[in-house]
Amino acid sequence: MGKKYHVAIVGATGAVGLELLRVMERRDFPVADLRLLASPRSAGTKLKFRGEERVVAVLDEDSFAGIDLAFFSAGSGTAKQFASVAQRAGAVAIDNSSAFRMDAEVPLVIPEINPEDARTHRGLIANPNCTTAVALMALHPLHQAFGLRRVFASSYQAVSGSGARAIAELREQVEASVSNASATPQVYPHPIAFNVIPHVDSFLENGYTREEMKLQNEGRKMLHLPDFRASLTCVRVPVYRAHSVALSAEFSRPISVEAAREVLAKAPGLDLIDEPSANRYPTPLDAAGKDNCQVGRLRIDCALDNGLSLWVAGDQLLKGAALNAVQIAELL
Ligand code: A2P
Repeated sequence: MGKKYHVAIVGATGAVGLELLRVMERRDFPVADLRLLASPRSAGTKLKFRGEERVVAVLDEDSFAGIDLAFFSAGSGTAKQFASVAQRAGAVAIDNSSAFRMDAEVPLVIPEINPEDARTHRGLIANPNCTTAVALMALHPLHQAFGLRRVFASSYQAVSGSGARAIAELREQVEASVSNASATPQVYPHPIAFNVIPHVDSFLENGYTREEMKLQNEGRKMLHLPDFRASLTCVRVPVYRAHSVALSAEFSRPISVEAAREVLAKAPGLDLIDEPSANRYPTPLDAAGKDNCQVGRLRIDCALDNGLSLWVAGDQLLKGAALNAVQIAELL
């Protein structure tokens, strides 16, 4: 029998934490023991793993004794405070937040793209931004074939990317609207039901949001492409699950739709759905709950040289978070 691991999930009650449990069940991850951790708010909450109820404990300095592998999905603050605690206890931490992604000492990994980077870890590996992960699943194979230079893009991001409270907020606003009641926005600065909000994460001095700069910054690091440029507008849409990204990408070598299709059809972790005449293209409803990201709407970009326009959708709780984290663990 293979080795089994003592695993902790920090943020087990959150949108990504709950997904981590399901992904480990589905992939038969070799778990010897599972410790579920969260804030004092949810101490005592019971969660099921492989049919057994487990009680959520409060995260503290002693939480990582005997743990081999710690998944963090509790935001940057918690990661900054506790990732080193996990490392000192001898665990490898895989963090879903943005806290360490751009740290030169910390590998940032998508197993289909840069698995070799994981080898240099010193007890901490970062999981990329969800929109970046979904976009790069299609851009990376195209980069290998045609040499990626720059990208112009807009994202259509699901509310589950903002956590469990945002999922509840969309539901409340939809229900309130149906019964002519009002629901005050709490998570987002504007109503999200029947609306789109061109504002994801906080604004920077250059006018972009932090989220928007992640495609360029994290893309450069994972693709090992320091000159890669990406101009992205991130938009929150009233979709529960799965992010979509409309991309116009420019390459250094000539590209054709046929050649791009051939490359994308063979790419791991990606499904090519591109039959516009039959109304077949990726949608977030179809991508939700699926491990693979989906790509379609391929066409030669009419405004760029060596350009391809395309549309990618992917379940950001899976490839953008929980699935990628478990794949990193499997890689180790
Ligand atoms: P809790 O449920 O106790 O608030 P989401 O991304 O869905 O909002 O989930 C965030 C996750 O991170 C939740 O499991 C949440 O636990 C957890 N969390 C947030 N802050 C802390 C903290 N200071 N210590 C431990 N866990 C935290």
